[in-house]
Amino acid sequence: MRQKVLAWLAENVPPARVDHILRVEQMAVNLAQHHKQDMEKASKAGLMHDLAKCFPPQKLLEMAKTEGLEIDEVMLACPHLLHAEVSAIVARDTFGVEDEEVLQAIANHTLGRPGMSPLCCIVFLADSLEPGRGHTPELQALRHSSLENLQQAVWQTCDYTFKFLLESNCLIHPRTLTTRNWFLQKSKAKQNNILQPNT
Ligand SMILES: [Fe+2]
Ligand SMILES: [Fe+2]
Repeated sequence: MRQKVLAWLAENVPPARVDHILRVEQMAVNLAQHHKQDMEKASKAGLMHDLAKCFPPQKLLEMAKTEGLEIDEVMLACPHLLHAEVSAIVARDTFGVEDEEVLQAIANHTLGRPGMSPLCCIVFLADSLEPGRGHTPELQALRHSSLENLQQAVWQTCDYTFKFLLESNCLIHPRTLTTRNWFLQKSKAKQNNILQPNT
């Protein structure tokens, strides 16, 4: 299956994007190993997370509509946001992926989702933090955080993404905010439990 996906990527995605995909796959496998998650699923989701990255906006909208996905105002204005969910459709229909966990990890890699699974968190983090994204102190701290605690790293990475989107005058999808809030609250609740184990 991996060879089939790599051959498809070589045809449909520019080489620089394939390099990013391979780095995401590698980081996802490393995080899965570190956090005792399924490494094979992490590899599959990492390898297929950006299948639809280069689809034109119209094609993304059409495929999302056919699938019955909810297309909100921000997605209409910026159909590129749909590439994550459409990549999961391609993974299912072209490569026969049936594992719902893998499909969800692909579908949630850009906007996240409140309550998403550890595998989803891993692919979400690997996409934003793979080594090709740079080596600023902020990114290095987020990578460190991703090894320490997945939930904490997710809300911190959402905050990092917000800063970038605000600076570049880009639209922010509300789901990134609800994801950030969910994981921030979850992390705080966990911390309070550690600090007050008997309450
Ligand atoms: Fe992506
Ligand atoms: Fe990506």
